[in-house]
Amino acid sequence: MQETAADMITLAGAAGPEGSAGEGVTARDAVARDGELELTVAGGRALRFPAVWLRDNCPCAGCADPAGGQKLHDVTDIPADCAVVGAVVGAVPGAGADRGRTVAVSFAPDGHRSAFAVDWLVRQALDGAPDDPGAADDPGGAELWSTAAELGQLPEASWPRYTADPAVRATALAAFLRSGFMVLREVPSEERMVLRVAESFGFVRETNYGRLFDVRIEPAPGNLAFTSREILPHTDNPYRDPVPTIQLLHCLRAADEGGDTGLVDGFAAAAALRATDREAFDVLTETTVRFEYRDAVAELRTSQPLIQLSPGGRVLGVRFNNRSARPPLRDAARFYAAYRRWAELLARPERRLNMRLAPGDCLVFDNTRILHARTAFSVTGSRHLQGCYADLDGLASTLALLRREQ
Ligand code: FE2
Repeated sequence: MQETAADMITLAGAAGPEGSAGEGVTARDAVARDGELELTVAGGRALRFPAVWLRDNCPCAGCADPAGGQKLHDVTDIPADCAVVGAVVGAVPGAGADRGRTVAVSFAPDGHRSAFAVDWLVRQALDGAPDDPGAADDPGGAELWSTAAELGQLPEASWPRYTADPAVRATALAAFLRSGFMVLREVPSEERMVLRVAESFGFVRETNYGRLFDVRIEPAPGNLAFTSREILPHTDNPYRDPVPTIQLLHCLRAADEGGDTGLVDGFAAAAALRATDREAFDVLTETTVRFEYRDAVAELRTSQPLIQLSPGGRVLGVRFNNRSARPPLRDAARFYAAYRRWAELLARPERRLNMRLAPGDCLVFDNTRILHARTAFSVTGSRHLQGCYADLDGLASTLALLRREQ
């Protein structure tokens, strides 16, 4: 006999695991078939959901914390022979208009019952949706720019407006996630302000360089950054695991001449390499390179490919910094040919977005995607930037919270 748990369902209890209100998606029919749920939605599409997956995502108060949706069970708590034995489209007492928006499912062998929001199930369904959010052709919300012209409008905001208005903040952070960077203007040219900027969207990542670092000419530089020489496009700290995913550079004083900042979209460059030289792309994604850094107080090393892919083939991150890279001896000739090809592509002038940071400008960029460079500069003018690191998860969380309020 088919379970008719519908009378036990309330809409509140039928939200999906991530919580969701209906957007009008309704189900015409739901049946248990071969131990799975078959849901027929408006238009006649039939969607299939395996029992173990449904059970792991059961939103009932016994399976998920009603406050935050965190699962209260372990995967081993799900019966290994779990099967859907009953399914019925929900009819909510006293809410006739909501008929079809929930589905009640009962399971063998333990008789557990779950209620799912139909619109949530539809959003999870493989049918019609992108099969793999990590697929090679899914940019994951990034808008790649190969040239400055492609970028269009510079993602920038004025610091006073950004701090005063949550809507300006949300717009700037969303632009950052699309373009991989943003420029905040009119940040007071005061020491340590870069930390305030990082704290406006996330958390400062302290490292062996401290909470912040100064980029200026030093008498005995231990790093190219602390000279007036040109620096080619690179990512920072590839020898760290995890790598700092956001870098900030706040200009306190500019050089009289030179010291221009250049940005390159590493994701767009990787897409170009994949399209034009598949062999080089494969070598760089499949070869693990050791990155090392050592000084008196730190000894850091990790081994990672120069281009990191998701299992579906999407570019997740690039690491590029010849100063600390130690490519392997094995297949060295083949690796260096691909490495050279990649370096040439990244160094193409048309790929570089040039800007001159003025005092008060704070550049914030995704260190897993955007390579940064600078031109040589005059020693007059006492160019001085302060930088720090932060992370993408904090920025994305801040944006999600701002959107909750909008
Ligand atoms: Fe750098």
